Amino acid sequence: MNAAPASLAAASTSGADLLLWVAVPYICLAVFVVGHVWRYRQDQFGWTSRTTQLLEHRWLRFGSPLFHVGAFMVIAGHVVGLAVPDSWTEAVGITEHAYHTTAVWAGSVAGVAMVAGLGMLCARRLLTRRIRLGTDRSDKVLFPLLSATVVLGITATAAHNVFGAGYDYRSTVSVWFRGLFVLQPQPEAIAGAPLLFQLHALSAFLLFAAWPFTRLVHVWSAPIGYLARPYLVYRRRSAPVSAPTTGGRTRSASGSGRAA
Ligand code: HEM
Repeated sequence: MNAAPASLAAASTSGADLLLWVAVPYICLAVFVVGHVWRYRQDQFGWTSRTTQLLEHRWLRFGSPLFHVGAFMVIAGHVVGLAVPDSWTEAVGITEHAYHTTAVWAGSVAGVAMVAGLGMLCARRLLTRRIRLGTDRSDKVLFPLLSATVVLGITATAAHNVFGAGYDYRSTVSVWFRGLFVLQPQPEAIAGAPLLFQLHALSAFLLFAAWPFTRLVHVWSAPIGYLARPYLVYRRRSAPVSAPTTGGRTRSASGSGRAA
């Protein structure tokens, strides 16, 4: 790995660096926390993924698992790559070379799955009229922001670590990221990183700020019960059958459908 700055301490910090790499992240994190509290108090009934499974399921059947499996792998990769210092992985016998080789391969597979899945989810949203009509303002912010974050992430990986000379983001981007959470911001650590990594990190923080106001809140409802829950039974109204008449109005309920 090369292209990492020789000394972060020697780097100077400009006003723009403070704004981009300290103020913006903290504002986004504050909106993330306060926004979740607000949403929980205001809109518990709307706290769902707002699934469109009943409107379209052919693309969803492939797009959703691809996106979610890719996302779980990417999240796991980010936890190790951003939160765990390289001295720790080396201490347990994982060399720098082994880490980066694994990160590039696993990250690329995960990233491609996420991009393909998200592409399908966006395509069905644009191409299926009924879903398009149900797309609200929060979706119009969420889908482009999510796509930008994912595409910038995979482009940074491809440009620098798959096809490029290699960039050691663990000694720059990761140092900056951890600094925010231990309340010792180090804007100089990311100020010299390649533009793609910077744009990716910024768009991720904007995504965090938008998160509580979108369908992404469903992530915190950990739908583990989905795996074992019984099927939901939907009954559709069809040709009227003789049913009891109440107050001059006749209702019929026949036929049934099952959906997972
Ligand atoms: C501030 C938070 C984030 C930072 C600092 C960050 C940083 C990074 C870095 C350094 C890489 C390159 C990994 C490599 O080359 O091995 C990367 C890749 C990637 N990131 Fe992020 N990321 C953040 C949040 C996110 C979020 C929220 C998403 C998705 C919604 C995301 C999606 C991706 C994808 C798809 C890749 C390419 C595949 C991979 O290498 O895992 N990132 N990110």
